[in-house]
Amino acid sequence: MTTETHPQTHPGTDPERLRERAVAALTAARARTAALTDPVSDRDLTAQHSPLMSPLVWDLAHIGNMEELWLLRRVAGRPSMHPEIDPLYDAFEHPRAERPKLPLLGPEAARRYTAEVRGRVFDLLERTPLEGTALLDQGYVFGMIAQHEQQHDETMLITHQLRHGGPVLTAPDPGPAQGPPPEAAEVLVPAGPFTMGTSTEPWALDNERPAHVRDLAAFWIDTAPVTNAAYQAFMADGGYHDPRWWAAEGWEQIRTHGIEAPLFWHREARQWLRRRFGVIEPVPGEESVLHVSWYEADAYARWAGRRLPTEAEWEKAARHDPATGRSRRYPWGDADPTPAHANLGQRHLRPSPAGGYPAGASPLGVRQLIGDVWEWTSSDFLPYPGFRAFPYEEYSQVFFGPEHKVLRGGSFAVDPVACRGTFRNWDLPVRRQIFSGFRTARSL
Ligand code: AVJ
Ligand code: FE
Repeated sequence: MTTETHPQTHPGTDPERLRERAVAALTAARARTAALTDPVSDRDLTAQHSPLMSPLVWDLAHIGNMEELWLLRRVAGRPSMHPEIDPLYDAFEHPRAERPKLPLLGPEAARRYTAEVRGRVFDLLERTPLEGTALLDQGYVFGMIAQHEQQHDETMLITHQLRHGGPVLTAPDPGPAQGPPPEAAEVLVPAGPFTMGTSTEPWALDNERPAHVRDLAAFWIDTAPVTNAAYQAFMADGGYHDPRWWAAEGWEQIRTHGIEAPLFWHREARQWLRRRFGVIEPVPGEESVLHVSWYEADAYARWAGRRLPTEAEWEKAARHDPATGRSRRYPWGDADPTPAHANLGQRHLRPSPAGGYPAGASPLGVRQLIGDVWEWTSSDFLPYPGFRAFPYEEYSQVFFGPEHKVLRGGSFAVDPVACRGTFRNWDLPVRRQIFSGFRTARSL
């Protein structure tokens, strides 16, 4: 038997609880946006720190503009507050590299605009019934906008990581792994069907839907993400210089750009160091490897005699409970994440040691599927059977296809509101500025 999760912790249909949850999610997102932008000088807010990223001040006003578009214009039917700026913040009109040249709102104007939108949104939320249309049911569109802001907060954190200069952000280190390490390096996930995706999670985005059954062959999967120490063994074995391990386009990329290590690493006095949010430090061996491309993950796995898990294998390892046949919301069950379950929410500015978080383990004992590092899967980003774009095609639909690979599980930089066992992220296989790592798998 395979069935879909019956979430125990979602707020049901009680309007007061739904409202409280929406207010809490929007407020938490705005506090994080402020923490990422308030300590930054106006010059650094408007500068472009990498051609891959927008200036931080673009993300700031784009967050407000999406909130205005969906909550004030679409839901409440209000006219645009500043029609002349709307095209500037449409992600499809201007690629990231061009955005610094646009007549963007400056830092003060961007802060004022996002705050004004938010004030009107809170007024609206008090008077809007959270039912009756697909956008409003269970506060969906408010949850979507809170997730959108949190996703841009992760994007802004990537911009912080790319920025040169001293540290502006601080957070405590995660410390050593709590609890005993996993008993084995890999676990066997038995053959059989499981339910992938969701039709009941209230704030799940369009690409996570609908729930559907997948039948998989048995496979082995790592109990923890690949560590820096393991990755360094691949490097020391000449992994970056042996075309046997590399997909053709990956080999082309590392040769063209002289890539010999994860992004932000450099070698000094026969030691690998890394730059992390303005701090230079030795690469910690026990931590999950971070800032690798899909090609690097794929090459490591081949060198190790293994492969990346498919997206379906990853989700079965994360959600399937063999005792009941049910798919859980998270590896540990249906309860929302707490700090004991996973390294999420930018509580720390780094992954924690691999093999920790026993409280967050799946029924079969797989650790750290949620949090720490986004995990590359071997799969292309494709719609599930029965997919319907909602509420706009530019969120998922325009990105489906073989050019994007799926990442799962969320990083230390993902807020719990934008993270669950069904959540799907995607990127180009060459990308390595994102908070990406991986684990490996093998067939029987
Ligand atoms: C889901 C992270 C790939 O940042 O491109 C933000 C999220 N979509 N605004 C992205 C998103 C629209 C998206 N990712
Ligand atoms: Fe966006």
